[in-house]
Amino acid sequence: MAQLIYLDGELVERDQAKISVYDHGLLYGDGVFEGIRAYNGRVFRLDEHLERLERSARAIMLDIPLSREELAEATVRTCRANEVHDGYIRLVVTRGVGDLGLDPRKCPKPSIFIIAANVQFYPEELYEAGLPLITVSTRRNSPACLDPGVKSLNYLNNILGKIECILANVEEGIMLTNAGMVSECTGDNIFVRLGDELLTPPAEAGIVDGITRAALIELARDEGIAVAERLFPITDVHAADECFLTGTAAELVPVVMVDGRTIGDGKPGPMTKRLLKRFRELTKSEGTPIYD
Ligand SMILES: Cc1ncc(COP(=O)(O)O)c(C=O)c1O
Repeated sequence: MAQLIYLDGELVERDQAKISVYDHGLLYGDGVFEGIRAYNGRVFRLDEHLERLERSARAIMLDIPLSREELAEATVRTCRANEVHDGYIRLVVTRGVGDLGLDPRKCPKPSIFIIAANVQFYPEELYEAGLPLITVSTRRNSPACLDPGVKSLNYLNNILGKIECILANVEEGIMLTNAGMVSECTGDNIFVRLGDELLTPPAEAGIVDGITRAALIELARDEGIAVAERLFPITDVHAADECFLTGTAAELVPVVMVDGRTIGDGKPGPMTKRLLKRFRELTKSEGTPIYD
């Protein structure tokens, strides 16, 4: 079955799904996006993703030409056309076709495309063994310059961090703020357990306001775990009893080593395992239905 891509209202075959070289999404990274997940024939937290997309678009003064309901309908329609049950969805809104200058007023019509595919990200063994991480030297974009809370098409800051990870032969890396505090990873949020407390960096650390992060905070509080959103240094990660990453693609991935320091006993910790189990139950129990 040929993959069908939603492109400005039409479902077109993958080979025909094309964007102009004059689109400012390509020329300047001028646009916004969401990475969304489908589980068990349902789209997980679709409304939250669409709300974040709208917030990102407002921040860059981009008028999305579809309402929230229409975007939800287009997302579900794309999943249905591709028979997606458990998969990943990429929803992108670009500024649209303009001229070679920066001026977004020259782009009268934003483009929307949606890619939905049945994909498996990380092998199950990885959730059992856990990941080693490094701290990368690329600092997270300062919210004063380009707020990472805006999920824009400009991901070069993260890509530079990812290149450092690739060179060090690790999957993910921790990015620090300009002031040297822990921010997040190149494509995931980070949590550490120190004693009884679960810590994660706050918005001011220049993080993406993760949908998975928010779900984990809810689940942890429901489990009676004290969760704090505050700034902490990398030494708190090195000394952590447990550490894990959250993201739409990653779900919740245990971390067992950071910068050569073993976390806990070098295996995914008990709180991490409990929260991963709860998260998987949650993803199976809610979501916007794709099929009637
Ligand atoms: C830089 C970055 N941090 C964190 C996340 C995790 O956010 P979410 O859980 O909404 O996927 C993402 C994924 O979009 C990301 O790109």
